[in-house]
Amino acid sequence: MNLTSARLVLVEVSWYDIPDIHRLHSLPEVDEYNTIGIPESEDDTRDVIRPWIEDQKNERRSKYLWKILKNCSGEFIGIAGMSMSSDKFISGEIFYKLLPSHWGNGYATETAITLIKAGFESFHLHRIEAGVATENIRSVRVLEKAAMTREGRRRKILPIRGEWRDNYHYAILEDDPRDY
Ligand SMILES: CC(C)(COP(=O)(O)OP(=O)(O)OC[C@H]1O[C@@H](n2cnc3c(N)ncnc32)[C@H](O)[C@@H]1OP(=O)(O)O)[C@@H](O)C(=O)NCCC(=O)NCCS
Repeated sequence: MNLTSARLVLVEVSWYDIPDIHRLHSLPEVDEYNTIGIPESEDDTRDVIRPWIEDQKNERRSKYLWKILKNCSGEFIGIAGMSMSSDKFISGEIFYKLLPSHWGNGYATETAITLIKAGFESFHLHRIEAGVATENIRSVRVLEKAAMTREGRRRKILPIRGEWRDNYHYAILEDDPRDY
């Protein structure tokens, strides 16, 4: 399933996208608040992405990973994902990461809003969540611009470069107010 917004198109990733994703994951700025770590090789990136691509074969999908392209040029600018809970909870969790050369243009906010709209309108979710390292000010700002609510702080839950870091837990419910 592909998603569109005013400036972006989100296309489900394929094996052909591994080099672009590897380039993204190899940047220290992108890894700063992430738990995956910088991959040593393209094979490492392929292993990280494999479950997301393999899920595309399943009739009952549990995870989606999209590449984010500028719709005017088709240029790759990042990736975004949504993983689904079990049926009983009808919730999903979103994430996104962009090439630093494209930060500060509102693309992450546009992506988060696109994911949330798809979550409620296409996947009929009840609740959408996101986690963010407490120091990741840019991403905190993105989640708040997307009308998500900070529900709590999980202490020392993220293993990042050998240290435990805190995480803010954000969520939005299908009947929470949002202006998009
Ligand atoms: C987080 C990330 C996706 C943000 O992308 P982006 O395209 O720059 O985001 P946006 O332009 O939509 O919004 C960024 C907001 O942060 C604000 N911001 C940027 N630097 C800031 C700083 N040092 N202090 C405070 N706010 C800051 C911007 O002003 C903007 O808010 P505004 O529109 O109110 O001015 C990008 O930095 C990234 O890919 N980081 C690495 C991966 C990552 O951390 N992903 C999130 C995991 S939860």
